[in-house]
Amino acid sequence: MVKVSAPGNVFFLGEHAVVYGRPALIGAPDRRTTVVLTPRIDGRITVVSPSYGDFENTVAGLLASQFPDARSYNPRGAEIDALSGDELMNPARDIIGEFGRRYGLGNGFDAEVSSTVARCGGMSSSTAFSVALWGALSAQFRGDLYKDDIWPVAYQINVKIHGGAASGAEANSSIHGGFHKARIETVDGKPVARAEKLDLQPFAVIVGETGVRTQTKKTVPYVREGWTNAKDAYEAVFTEIGKLVEEGVNALNEGEDLYLGGLMNEDHELLRGELGVSHPLLNRLVDTARSQGAYGAKMCGGGKGGLMVALVDPKNEEVAASVIKALQDVGGTAYKTILGGEGLRIEQ
Ligand code: MEV
Repeated sequence: MVKVSAPGNVFFLGEHAVVYGRPALIGAPDRRTTVVLTPRIDGRITVVSPSYGDFENTVAGLLASQFPDARSYNPRGAEIDALSGDELMNPARDIIGEFGRRYGLGNGFDAEVSSTVARCGGMSSSTAFSVALWGALSAQFRGDLYKDDIWPVAYQINVKIHGGAASGAEANSSIHGGFHKARIETVDGKPVARAEKLDLQPFAVIVGETGVRTQTKKTVPYVREGWTNAKDAYEAVFTEIGKLVEEGVNALNEGEDLYLGGLMNEDHELLRGELGVSHPLLNRLVDTARSQGAYGAKMCGGGKGGLMVALVDPKNEEVAASVIKALQDVGGTAYKTILGGEGLRIEQ
């Protein structure tokens, strides 16, 4: 039996633009998805997951299956609601199938998934799930996590889950933890993660969940459609967001939190206005956090629901408490989360 966990992610700056090659600033929270994997001897595979539903198959069945190519998987995000439960489990099926074809699956297993990553979206719950599941398979059937092998697979799964395009920044962060400036590059036709780990101590931010479920498989294709119709205008916005990230990395490294907060505010305005991926409840939570003394606040992740993140003075408990209370008063679910935690790991 192995127990493996991986964190979700919080974007300080740069979501969406990062899909188009710009950098993002991202941190791993103390909210994690855990997979407990217990070998079986009858050739069956079961996955029990509160977020992804239950999944059952056989080793022989999975190894014989051909799965759709990442880019042909649900390319029209709008139709996701029509997919059946079985199809929604494709991430687990594809991860297990891919792993099995490369390394074998023994005589089957039971995988039990639990998570403290926000369920409404915006904190990369599906990436935490994919990375933790691959890690558990690796720990069980290869005897080690082999972290360096995971990104290309997790990236492909992200592409599927995000409706045809992804940055892989979240996958990198879930695998390695801490804080990263990350972007994607294509080298010889292959996607490559360019990630710089920042040397920072963990610190707390405040998260406010809207309770509205976001689906990145809808928001990434939504932005893609806008970009397809007006490439120059969208590229200009992505470049502007990329500049905020470069400035944000400097601010974070220099401990200039107030300045970083201002950059987060600017990013939110671009995500809300130019890219159109915010939501009235997200805007309300963001405005509320700012009005209670947060240095800055913005939506986080794919948007159109999900959650927001607020940066507050880490030494001022009073401001943190009043931001949390005010977010709750306007209907959000608010809490502190510590960023900069460990990436994928084996639990004892
Ligand atoms: C989604 O959580 C973050 C996006 O930037 C997509 C991605 O990075 O793949 C919208």
